[in-house]
Amino acid sequence: MRTIAISNNKGGVGKTTSTVNIAAALHLMGHRVLVIDIDHQAQSTYHFGIDPNKVKFSVYDIMSGEADFSKIIVDRNGIFVLPANPSLRNIEFLPVPAKEFLLREALEDLNGYDYVLLDCPPSLGVLTLNALSFSREVIIPLQVQFLPFHGMYNLFEAIDMVKKRLNRDIQVCGIIGTMFNAKKDINREVLEETEKRLPGKLFKTLIRENTSLQEAPSWGKTIFEYKPESAGAKDYMNLAKEIVERSPE
Ligand SMILES: Nc1ncnc2c1ncn2[C@@H]1O[C@H](COP(=O)(O)OP(=O)(O)OP(=O)(O)O)[C@@H](O)[C@H]1O
Ligand SMILES: [Mg+2]
Repeated sequence: MRTIAISNNKGGVGKTTSTVNIAAALHLMGHRVLVIDIDHQAQSTYHFGIDPNKVKFSVYDIMSGEADFSKIIVDRNGIFVLPANPSLRNIEFLPVPAKEFLLREALEDLNGYDYVLLDCPPSLGVLTLNALSFSREVIIPLQVQFLPFHGMYNLFEAIDMVKKRLNRDIQVCGIIGTMFNAKKDINREVLEETEKRLPGKLFKTLIRENTSLQEAPSWGKTIFEYKPESAGAKDYMNLAKEIVERSPE
């Protein structure tokens, strides 16, 4: 079972879009996939067409020990989802020690999935630390622009800290270049700089700027359900194949 946090503390870089559509591509390839929405904005929950305000139990309830994960996982047309709802932000205020490990402890008996993907919030707070303590791998969506590129250093520092203190097995699976437009010089420059500073980390597949990817969430659909012929669907399918090939030893 591969456990992969999709994380970047920078907001709006394509974490949710990537989580949902990589999950859908892996599912189409025949893998059994679970998505854990560990963002209190509940965006991947929405993207899958599940209304977070109607979700009675969420990841919050399993982290706080109030419910067992098996009762909360939703089977959404063959893709399994552990939904978020707004109560997730209250994890911060739970009066318990070692809060970084709540998810890992609650999911100790989780099995039966080939891939578990976690959609992280845009911060390095307690929810992201829970995702990084639980996961063996991290995938970093990078919007190929100047500021997101520089912001990525904080994330690498945080991953180093997690490796030293919380989860020594964690490793970066790869960086996804998102919202790529070949006509924009800055996009190409950021990709070259990333390859220079972090050789081999960028996936070969770039996720192109694509309007269908923006529209799909409002229909509660993955890109493969909404526009299977779109550039977005092609890119996420190619990316998923690369992720399968980059399995850790
Ligand atoms: N390849 C793309 N082309 C065009 N728009 C995109 C693409 N990928 C994502 N977007 C759009 O960019 C916005 C941010 O994407 P997304 O919500 O996936 O980012 P995020 O990192 O999860 O954000 P947050 O940090 O708030 O959780 C969304 O409106 C999304 O539809
Ligand atoms: Mg998001």
